[in-house]
Amino acid sequence: MQNFDLHMHTTYCDGKDSAEAMVLSAIENGLAFAGISGHSFTPHDQSYCMSREGTQKYIDEIRGLKEKYAGSITLLLGTELDRYADIDLSPYDYYIGSVHYIFSEEGRKKRDEILARHTGGAALGAADAEVNASDAELEALIKYEDWSPVDDYAEDLCRFAFREEGIAVNETDAALLEGDPVRRKSKMLDVAELYFDTVGSIISATDCDMIGHFDLITKFTEGWGFGPGGNVISKTRCGAAEFVSELFDTSDERYIAAWKKAIDRIFDDCAERYRNGYRNRLEKLGVLQAGDKPVFEINTGAISKGYRTLPYPAADQIEYIKSKGGVLILSSDSHAAGTICSGFEEFANLVNIPD
Ligand SMILES: [Fe+2]
Repeated sequence: MQNFDLHMHTTYCDGKDSAEAMVLSAIENGLAFAGISGHSFTPHDQSYCMSREGTQKYIDEIRGLKEKYAGSITLLLGTELDRYADIDLSPYDYYIGSVHYIFSEEGRKKRDEILARHTGGAALGAADAEVNASDAELEALIKYEDWSPVDDYAEDLCRFAFREEGIAVNETDAALLEGDPVRRKSKMLDVAELYFDTVGSIISATDCDMIGHFDLITKFTEGWGFGPGGNVISKTRCGAAEFVSELFDTSDERYIAAWKKAIDRIFDDCAERYRNGYRNRLEKLGVLQAGDKPVFEINTGAISKGYRTLPYPAADQIEYIKSKGGVLILSSDSHAAGTICSGFEEFANLVNIPD
């Protein structure tokens, strides 16, 4: 079995267990490497990530645990770096690049302008007062107008898709579902294209060492949808007759073209940075060999949380990544000590790590 798990969260963000409990579980699972990857600070949405103060405590604690358990495991200090985070990356051994948000074009412009005005924010080493000011301005960006979460609730993406049609966020979600289903589907595909466009830019935007949950946007498509009144419901619980809308048609050619374009760009960007001298941090740490190829995780987190039966990415995406020689590794995306290495045996056949 793969002897490392690089994606786990603790009580510093939205995990249920302490960092030490996670390390002990990783040791029990017989891992050679464990990477703790707390959610990086995202100023526009502070609901699930590590706080600024908490991040420093997190770094200090992981460093202490590295020493404490050095005889049993190689512990790595990582972060799950959101595309729209703003943090100093210098303390970390490696980082996962993940897209948890989509931004409208206007929202992205506002974000860039705010960061530029505050000398680049924390990522570029701005002074504390500048960072605090930019955090406050970024937090004031408007949900569903400037940005939307990808994986909080299925309705979020619908609200964002129809944001220009004057549907109030607190209005009944049924309003989102009226009208022509073909047009509705097209609007959702616009969202999917924006999502994969953002994922495709992840290497150039974050310089990450691995790509987190490539098609997170499908979190709610496997048996979930909208019920009358707009609540997210389970198909199996409510029955197909009450089921109002599929979120995305993943067999649509627009959807397939969007993810292929993202994968192609990730490969191109990795090859270019390799030519420019970059070497994957996981390679330097002795975890795996990547060369000029991207590393994608096969993420089993949504399975252990009960949302899905299959990991991210989808099977056709995994095949496409493999056909291009990409590296595929298992990640549990654990939010509790009991789920470390979850699904690793079942999905071991999907792994692709060069010797
Ligand atoms: Fe994530």
